[in-house]
Amino acid sequence: MSLIRGFFVFVAISADIMVFHCKADRYPQPWNLTYEWLDKFTVNISWKKPIGLADNSGINYCLKKIEDKSELQVHEKKLQTIETLLTETKGTDSWTYNIWATGENCNQPNETVPAMLTIRTPKPRDKLVKDFKCFPSLNKMNCSWIPANRSQNLVLYYRIKGRMQEDIQSLKKCDKPYSNGERNGCYLHIDPEPKNILVLVETDTAMITFIPVIELPPPKLSVKEEGDYLKLSWNASNFGKQCSEYEVCFSKCNSPLCQKTGIGEPSMKVIYDKNCQYEFKSRVMTTESCFSINSTFSEPVIYGTNKTPDETLTVVAIVIPIILSACVILSCYCFRRHSAIICPVIPDPSAVFKEMIMNGNSDLKATQTKLYTPVPEPIEPCKIILVSENSPIQQNN
Ligand SMILES: *[C@@H]1O[C@H](CO)[C@@H](O)[C@H](O)[C@H]1NC(C)=O
Ligand SMILES: *[C@@H]1O[C@H](CO)[C@@H](O)[C@H](O)[C@H]1NC(C)=O
Ligand SMILES: *[C@@H]1O[C@H](CO)[C@@H](O)[C@H](O)[C@H]1NC(C)=O
Repeated sequence: MSLIRGFFVFVAISADIMVFHCKADRYPQPWNLTYEWLDKFTVNISWKKPIGLADNSGINYCLKKIEDKSELQVHEKKLQTIETLLTETKGTDSWTYNIWATGENCNQPNETVPAMLTIRTPKPRDKLVKDFKCFPSLNKMNCSWIPANRSQNLVLYYRIKGRMQEDIQSLKKCDKPYSNGERNGCYLHIDPEPKNILVLVETDTAMITFIPVIELPPPKLSVKEEGDYLKLSWNASNFGKQCSEYEVCFSKCNSPLCQKTGIGEPSMKVIYDKNCQYEFKSRVMTTESCFSINSTFSEPVIYGTNKTPDETLTVVAIVIPIILSACVILSCYCFRRHSAIICPVIPDPSAVFKEMIMNGNSDLKATQTKLYTPVPEPIEPCKIILVSENSPIQQNN
């Protein structure tokens, strides 16, 4: 009996040890997850330490945004984080975070059920503007967009990206709003890093937040002939020599080619083949070390004309048939005028044939001289005899 009891005690103890061992890897959930928007871009997420852990237990927290699989953050011993969330990054008005406690790294152990927090935008998201883009110029940005609904009253705010108190306080309202046909616009007074701008567009009931698309205006291209070369030049971008790079694409006799110039070089030479038509377009890009923004291509500039074999071929293809048909018409005319010599009158074959049938094979030659004259047939005068009913003819029948 004591042996059996001893066995049970042993089993119970080892089970306890196993449970304890499992619990050692597995932290209880953080609790009381909350969030507070510090402004329309920035949210303060906070939580409380799992119950039953000592203050000095050295636990860390892991955060994972569900929408963003790659993002995994470790927050050593802190019970809050401040995040920038933009509605147009993924086109959403809510985000879900998983938050869990860990001893060291954030490889989420299977047994840990993370605490979950869903964050909603301060106002519902609505796609208020389309094709929003900004052109930078000296210490300001010219931004414009197509409003989704013209009768909505839009207000646009912007600030430098960042989570610190001073970033949050740098929010400004867009200046000097204008309407330019289809597009509306305004000016942002901000420099120098265009990539670090956050924009908020809102109405009384809706909002969107995003990082604006920033483009450079396409360079204005001019082409000049210089000896055997064509010289291309364009207005330099106002980002300074060190930051600007240009790309020129051209087609020569319809075969396209693109070339980059050296950094800050606002011109280029191309060998000129006078038998070819050229079409040039160019764009400006800022170098990687600056902000890495591009312009679209300029309107194409056309220079020269195509004088290729194609052209002589088309001439040949049009002129030769014309000459040939003129010859044919002329020869027909000549043939008609001298037709008596070239083409004597051929007797009507049907007449010859008729004659042959009527006169037999013997005198073919006579047919040419002897014309057919109708022979009058002898006509017997008609005698009408009136016969009475009692006439001898009837009796004979
Ligand atoms: C974020 O929230 C936590 C908890 O409510 C608070 O202690 C902290 O001061 C907040 N941080 C900021 C910058 O508001
Ligand atoms: C701003 O952009 C608009 C539209 O693209 C343009 O018409 C206007 O001239 C620009 N203003 C300045 C000062 O460049
Ligand atoms: C446009 O905005 C006005 C004013 O907010 C609203 O009454 C109207 O329904 C909107 N139109 C559309 C098509 O959303």
